[in-house]
Amino acid sequence: MRQKIVAGNWKMNKTWEDAKILTAEVMGMVADEVKGNVKTILCVPFPYLGSLKNQLGSSTVKIGAQNCSEHDWGAYTGEVSALMLKSMEIPYVILGHSERRQYFGEDGKLLARKIDKTLAANLTPIFCCGEQLEIREAGTHEKLVKQQVEDALFHLSADALKKIVIAYEPVWAIGTGKTASAQQAQEMHAVIRKHLASKYGAPVANEISILYGGSVKADNAQELFSCPDVDGGLVGGASLKSREFVDIVKAMK
Ligand code: PGA
Repeated sequence: MRQKIVAGNWKMNKTWEDAKILTAEVMGMVADEVKGNVKTILCVPFPYLGSLKNQLGSSTVKIGAQNCSEHDWGAYTGEVSALMLKSMEIPYVILGHSERRQYFGEDGKLLARKIDKTLAANLTPIFCCGEQLEIREAGTHEKLVKQQVEDALFHLSADALKKIVIAYEPVWAIGTGKTASAQQAQEMHAVIRKHLASKYGAPVANEISILYGGSVKADNAQELFSCPDVDGGLVGGASLKSREFVDIVKAMK
């Protein structure tokens, strides 16, 4: 059985006051309403990590970062390393989000190094991949996403790969309100899993949780999550509202 996961990606949103309120609401609703084995994660801005982790305490809701450096320590002003996150016992970190790729020039080589740093620090990376609209329209989306997976992950051993969570996020669906259909999501998740199987074998590939991201909402989550290769979601905009986010968590059965 693969781990089912719903992770919220707050991106660069919420004041500190609002962040505490949202966390308290999500934590309370998850405790009251969420049964079963879905893992709920909040990926929050760096300055909030320590305090929100304390606020969550022994809640089943876990905390994650949205990025980390490819370096361990040193003169890299403004950066945060995987070892720093480890020292704060932050268990998850998103890597390779399309916004990082697009606005900060992150490519496969860099992401491979970041993946190595997070694994060396015993964190779980949530590795994002996904194609832009032009690529989808040109029909080369499978090729591109396979390449993204290969570039960042295929240097890993099978044991290391098993510690990764993958998120497929078609760029044209992020923040646009235009969700991939359940069929499109399932197709791409199956492509990714098959590609992992081609290198690591089916038993390993079958252990990797692959999340869907891109305009997941309470009213489309159930359909997306019912696909056999969709193991949960990475949720942006809808994770900023506690009721909507917890309804998405509840859609993952
Ligand atoms: P969205 O963002 O849910 O707002 O489309 C998803 C993401 O970027 O992770």
